[in-house]
Amino acid sequence: MTAADSVRAAVAAVTDPELRRPIGELDMVREVTVDGDSAHVGIVLTIVGCPAAARIESDVRNAAASVAGIAQVEVEVGVMTPAERKALTEKLRDGRPARQMPFGPDSLTRVILVSSGKGGVGKSTVTANLAVALAEQGLAVGLVDADVHGFSIPGLLGIPSGTQPTRIDDLMLPPVAYGVKTISIGMFLRDGEAVVAWRGPMLHRTVSQFLTDVFFGDLDVLLIDMPPGTGDIAISIGQLLPHAEVLVVTTPQTAASEVAIRSGLVARQTGQRVIGVIENMGAFSLPDGTVIDLFGSGGGAAVAAALSESGTAVPLLASIPLSPSLRAGGDAGAPVVLSEPDDPAARAIHDLATTLAHQGRGLSGRALPMSLR
Ligand SMILES: Nc1ncnc2c1ncn2[C@@H]1O[C@H](COP(=O)(O)OP(=O)(O)O)[C@@H](O)[C@H]1O
Ligand SMILES: [Mg+2]
Repeated sequence: MTAADSVRAAVAAVTDPELRRPIGELDMVREVTVDGDSAHVGIVLTIVGCPAAARIESDVRNAAASVAGIAQVEVEVGVMTPAERKALTEKLRDGRPARQMPFGPDSLTRVILVSSGKGGVGKSTVTANLAVALAEQGLAVGLVDADVHGFSIPGLLGIPSGTQPTRIDDLMLPPVAYGVKTISIGMFLRDGEAVVAWRGPMLHRTVSQFLTDVFFGDLDVLLIDMPPGTGDIAISIGQLLPHAEVLVVTTPQTAASEVAIRSGLVARQTGQRVIGVIENMGAFSLPDGTVIDLFGSGGGAAVAAALSESGTAVPLLASIPLSPSLRAGGDAGAPVVLSEPDDPAARAIHDLATTLAHQGRGLSGRALPMSLR
């Protein structure tokens, strides 16, 4: 192997931080020459002003410099031609035609919708923490914020406002927060811009683009934070993802459980399977032993019982207590499952993640265990 071959091999192994693959595999390495102890390395990036450019350049420099006998490195950074970019996006899509949704029934990714009958039950807070907890357990996790009118996931995950997905032609690379690849309408709006006037077709196009044009790569699980209730988006997602699994979030209050039951029944009508109920905002204990039972009790069990059919019991998978830390972590964009793992709500969400991670998809005849990577 010549010195140039050694440098090329070292450089080819550098990982693109956004695409998460070696740049050699992504055809980003160009000419590599070595003259005495100095190496010249040419690389090409996907787009001009690629946000990861500085990082790739310095990783390439270090990789080349790590080769024995190399003392000086010159990195020349270019940009892919449109034809090269097209070849790259085709490679990333794994031969799947552009505009085809990768989460169809043959996909190995578990798709889990988190729904609720009404807003304010803590659905987004629980979803964001659950996603982070699953990622912490080693799963490749994506999170789609499908609550277009009431998006909140970027804030809950501390994604700075103004953060946008990187685009490679019509492929969008989702920002990653706490190991979770995340997409939300909030990443496309200018400050203060609203989507209040959006109606069915536009909402459908938005969620369908999130599922089709966002490059999530190979995921073990895709969580979808649904808008409350059973409106246009729930119907669109029912059409796009009829094989999805559904978690229903409710508070312990029996009045809230009625609408939660309805949202579970509507999901089921589209073919989706309700795999469990999460009760949130349950009783919590003060250090002196006093129990604060703000929303009563029994709502979760009532929803689970109502959604259980003969033969298929829908379990109450988690009871998450009211927790000032869970609330504060959401406000700060620092999920409590990481910042305060011993908080009782954090523990309940962590246990929920463990339960889900150890389940197969459970579709009869095609149970596919989630792989740990
Ligand atoms: N278990 C909990 N304890 C305390 N506050 C909570 C809890 N779950 C959610 N919250 C708070 O309740 C509010 C609504 O939560 P959110 O996740 O936005 O609900 P949804 O997505 O169902 O509308 C937020 O301020 C959140 O911090
Ligand atoms: Mg929400």
